[in-house]
Amino acid sequence: MDTIDLIKKISIIDNELVIDWMDGSNSSLYSFWLRDHCQMPESRNIDNGQRLFSVKDLPSDISIEKVYKDELGNVCVIFQPENHLSVFSQEWLRSNCYDLKSHFEDRSEKIKKLWQKNSFETGIPLINYDSINESDTKLSALSSLRDLGFFVITDVPTIEGQVLKVISKMGYTRETNYGALFEVRTEVNPNNLAYTNMGLGSHTDNPYRDPVPTVQLLHCLESSTEGGDSILVDGFKAASILRDENEENFQTLTSNWINYRFTDSKTDLRSRVPMIELNDNHEIIKVRYNNRSIDTIKVPKDKMRSFYMAYRHWSEVIERDELKIQFKLSEGDLLLFDNTRVMHARTKFSKNGRRHLQGAYTDLDGLYSLLNTLEKRSFNG
Ligand SMILES: [Fe+2]
Repeated sequence: MDTIDLIKKISIIDNELVIDWMDGSNSSLYSFWLRDHCQMPESRNIDNGQRLFSVKDLPSDISIEKVYKDELGNVCVIFQPENHLSVFSQEWLRSNCYDLKSHFEDRSEKIKKLWQKNSFETGIPLINYDSINESDTKLSALSSLRDLGFFVITDVPTIEGQVLKVISKMGYTRETNYGALFEVRTEVNPNNLAYTNMGLGSHTDNPYRDPVPTVQLLHCLESSTEGGDSILVDGFKAASILRDENEENFQTLTSNWINYRFTDSKTDLRSRVPMIELNDNHEIIKVRYNNRSIDTIKVPKDKMRSFYMAYRHWSEVIERDELKIQFKLSEGDLLLFDNTRVMHARTKFSKNGRRHLQGAYTDLDGLYSLLNTLEKRSFNG
């Protein structure tokens, strides 16, 4: 098979491999990085691709002695003092060169489609349970999870425990002190306000856990009350609005961590985490907000005033109507959302009639793993 030539010219400048790409862009790859990413069988296990050496095994004075293209168009690099030959395909170099990519992960705001109320005039992402075993349906649902942070499955059998079966089709249940699943319905002496008929403000679940459950599912088994609508808010959008309106308030919430706590007779869960978490590229990667479970707020004395200004501003942005999408889950609907990004709320509901949801948690890792696998398969035809 002929290799498509992506590279116009290769050269060595200042101990870096310099590539002039056909499309006019340039890359400059550091010798140490290139040697560390050697793809040859002596450097990587041939079956699983895992690295066979540690970076400390490499000489500290690595240099690129020579580069050339072989007859297949691969880029050959000879490193000294090891006299080591590495052969890289042009495709590998193009898709891995670190200087042409401005972001390095799939969980940050950078690759998401941020949304607000008017973003869904043609409807929210829905899939039907009947097609849940089909790869195309899973691919589309999980793409919605990655890009928008949620989707709804309709016509899920209204059988107790079905939420766990849905998880098993895509990932693994994250069990907690609430059990593998939890009941959301009005209870006498509830240990959590979620189990009353009160309205709940926008929140993420369980910020008192570290690590937090990253995906939540809510399966509606019965719905005959007045009210009890579900509300979703894109927490990344809300955080970006906070940043646009007051950069200092935004920075305050990313740099001052707070304590969350949940206790009952058998449990005492505690965490200390920021309300808005950034990655090393200053992009939003997680939000945590739950006014019910914020513990005593402890920040340095000289930061308390600015913290409260920022905290109040943030809680006001979160509750803006123009950010909220509101819908009623019908019997058989199952809502699945990214609990590190999408905040959920519900309106108060009447005591007449019945409202019964079963909830459970899973994690983004397993779901993204499936999504990556499905995307690779669909790309390869
Ligand atoms: Fe909740």
